[in-house]
Amino acid sequence: MKKIIWPAAITLASFLAYFALRFWLWGPLHAAGFRDLLAFCYVLLGMTIVRCSTYLFFDLLYLKRTGREAPGLLKVMFSLVCYAILFMLILGLVLKYDVTGLVATSAAVSVVIGFALQDTLGNFFAGASLHIEQPFKIKDSIRFRDRTGEVETASWRSTAIRTTDNSVLIFPNSLLAREPIEVFPYESLHRQSVSFSAPYSVAPQTVIDVARSAALDLPDVTYEIQPTARITGFGESSVNFELLYWLKDYMRAGDASAAIRERLWYAFHREGLSMPFPTRHVLLENINPEDLECKTGVDYRRAIDGIDIFQPLTSVEKDALLTLSQVLLFAPGEYMVRCGQPGDSMFIIGRGKAEVRVSSNGTHSTVAVLKTGGFFGEMSLFSGEPRSADVIAIEESEVLEIGKAGIEKLLLENANLARIFSKTVSERLAVLEEHAGRVCGGEEIKVEEGKFFERIKRIFNLS
Ligand code: CMP
Repeated sequence: MKKIIWPAAITLASFLAYFALRFWLWGPLHAAGFRDLLAFCYVLLGMTIVRCSTYLFFDLLYLKRTGREAPGLLKVMFSLVCYAILFMLILGLVLKYDVTGLVATSAAVSVVIGFALQDTLGNFFAGASLHIEQPFKIKDSIRFRDRTGEVETASWRSTAIRTTDNSVLIFPNSLLAREPIEVFPYESLHRQSVSFSAPYSVAPQTVIDVARSAALDLPDVTYEIQPTARITGFGESSVNFELLYWLKDYMRAGDASAAIRERLWYAFHREGLSMPFPTRHVLLENINPEDLECKTGVDYRRAIDGIDIFQPLTSVEKDALLTLSQVLLFAPGEYMVRCGQPGDSMFIIGRGKAEVRVSSNGTHSTVAVLKTGGFFGEMSLFSGEPRSADVIAIEESEVLEIGKAGIEKLLLENANLARIFSKTVSERLAVLEEHAGRVCGGEEIKVEEGKFFERIKRIFNLS
């Protein structure tokens, strides 16, 4: 009320002064001075009227109708418009200025300013509409474009929210006014849910009781409304449930759901309930040599027949070797074995071509090119040493990988094989020596020629 009484009193006093002066000092010489004084009195009167209207419209009517205080921004805008009109009226009617030019100029200036400040004005009016509508208030939590936070400030230009990471996000009001916002009002209850699953073998009511007990006595959960649990679906390997509980502070949602999940685990554990996980029936198949041929299109049985070191094997032994092996496919340029790496398998090239390469001081040297039916990797397999060279697929290559288990089986059944294997490895080592001085990635190959037989016996535990 003080805001009205004081201007009203000053206005009354100024009008009294005006009339008194006019009564005592009236004369044509003073006419212009009186007009200015009168204009001044009208300015005071206008201010009083604007203040009275603001008080009447916003502090009384708006409050009564909406039950909340009118936004400050709205009051400021209303006052500004009123003062602008008042200014024009006094200029035109009291001071007798021609205001048409001024109105036209100000309209043109407004258009220019309007274009220049398009974004700012957009934000301003969006801010004004947000202030009038008040879809959210300070301390409410809002979700906007997947970001959630508590509203900290709402100015005429932007709205700032503080996230749970304690960072502040500032959204321009024009953006907020255009897109949907999810609002979680402060001091309202917010329902949350945690999904979990239970075995089919346990009665739903038992699970529901266990889950509800898990949600009790948590600091972030309110018990004005009790937590409930319900079935949401029948899954592949479990019955799916959700636990519903209520929060006072939406910003605590993440911590509350984590605490509830933890409690659920303990409650399930105590009750001897398992958290089901998807189960699959895996069919393990013994591959027939014929099947392998069908799947890859390569006759690996014939490939084994064509390899010298496997000549002494019986037909049954060759079949056994095939069932213990696997087919691998390599792209052109791919390393099938890498020099210096450990290896306990050998390979037969079923289809494709490979380069055996050694490198010394950055220069590469091709030791051999292996074609379909060729084999590699036997040196590490029989010696236990790291790979002696790189073997790289020159074109798309399909190889049969024979693991240590397969060879071990053969050697145990046919001790003669060890001699044959050692001969081949020795021959290959001799070629490697000619190239690159027996180096592989700078390291000397440690396997000594002629001693393979003993090594093979030792590695494969042959007596
Ligand atoms: P390993 O040492 O296990 O890995 C690299 C392979 O390259 C090696 O086994 C041999 O199989 C192969 N290799 C090495 N030298 C030769 C060679 N001179 N001719 C053919 N292949 C070879």
